[in-house]
Amino acid sequence: MSGLFEPFQLKGVTLPNRLVRSATFDNSAERDGQVSQRQLTLYGNLAQGGVGLVVSGIVYVHESGRVAMRQNSLADDQGIPGLAKLVDAVHAHGGKIAVQLFHAGREAARFRQFTGGEPAWAPSLVEHDPYFEHPHRAMTAAEIEEVVAAFGAAARRAKEAGFDAVQVHGAHAYLFAQFLSPHANRRDDQWGGSLDNRLRLHLAALDAIREQVGPEYPVMIKLGLADGFEPGLSFDDGLEAAVRLARAGYDCLEISQGLRGADYRASEFRPEDKRAEQEGYFRAWAAEVKQRVSVPVIAVGGLRTPAACAEVLDRGQADLVALSRPLISQPDLVARWQEGSQERSRCISCNKCMEVIIKGKALSCILDQEPSAA
Ligand SMILES: Cc1cc2nc3c(=O)[nH]c(=O)nc-3n(C[C@H](O)[C@H](O)[C@H](O)COP(=O)(O)O)c2cc1C
Repeated sequence: MSGLFEPFQLKGVTLPNRLVRSATFDNSAERDGQVSQRQLTLYGNLAQGGVGLVVSGIVYVHESGRVAMRQNSLADDQGIPGLAKLVDAVHAHGGKIAVQLFHAGREAARFRQFTGGEPAWAPSLVEHDPYFEHPHRAMTAAEIEEVVAAFGAAARRAKEAGFDAVQVHGAHAYLFAQFLSPHANRRDDQWGGSLDNRLRLHLAALDAIREQVGPEYPVMIKLGLADGFEPGLSFDDGLEAAVRLARAGYDCLEISQGLRGADYRASEFRPEDKRAEQEGYFRAWAAEVKQRVSVPVIAVGGLRTPAACAEVLDRGQADLVALSRPLISQPDLVARWQEGSQERSRCISCNKCMEVIIKGKALSCILDQEPSAA
């Protein structure tokens, strides 16, 4: 099959194929954030199932950016040995693994209610926000610097644990997307206002990371290209942001949703749309970015068949393709495609996997349960 199963060079790292497991939070760490046996099995299964590059779920880099009790941490050195085992579980099957470095920004508010009730850190306090109603406050400049330094320190720990790359979470509802969005970022200092200022966090984090990991280590970013409502981050600004981040030295861009809008259709995990002209709802965005940057681009969102994945590569819309929900349901899907199966993933994008997580349970697929539960 065209290209999909050819190796790909991400700086010095050779990926065995072009299929990526997009970052997927599994809510399965131990209660202190340590890697669990369940996670070792899950990650081992993904690599055994043929995924070329596994991107971890959100790993918090600073306590203020944590969203769940059972979330892995790189906020201090204690997580390193456990995460090194996670790396080994993937490497044992010939796969590569990146860790997703994360700060929730204002989205940490719900978790903070259980841990002392401090308002969450955000670019700005936005009152009467129709898309966000939990307690949050504007970060001080010193707090922003603290978080920037935390990204650098976390990347150092990731490299020590043996990860092949890091990916900064710059998409969806979280801190970097909040800073990039003129809706969530109302600051009038150097961290807000113009596009340059709204991108300062992304660039400062890159500098802090590079200082710790050196020039050769792959530093990726998952970038939200536009918010799911207006007026928010516009597509034009998102595109320009992608160009600047690639030029600044991010080594790979995965293209996704910015801040979420009113429902799943304006989020990164969109429902199935039978009327859609083509499978893969962000691939046109990825293609626009791909035309303008010289670093690799990853397409994600709604890809369900090997034919569509191959077509993304054939048409030059992206260099790599990523899946999340299908691999929750079928961790061995890629291996079956590699053996020649043309089957469509059984995933129906029902988002029950996300709802399970929101309820505080470990990641699962409803299709694995008794038929009566579906
Ligand atoms: C249960 C669940 C957890 C997710 N966790 C993350 C995450 O930790 N980081 C992230 O960037 N995206 C996360 N996502 C979004 C996916 O990576 C992906 O961008 C999105 O689901 C669209 O791809 P898909 O149609 O292949 O599922 C998650 C999605 C789901 C359903």
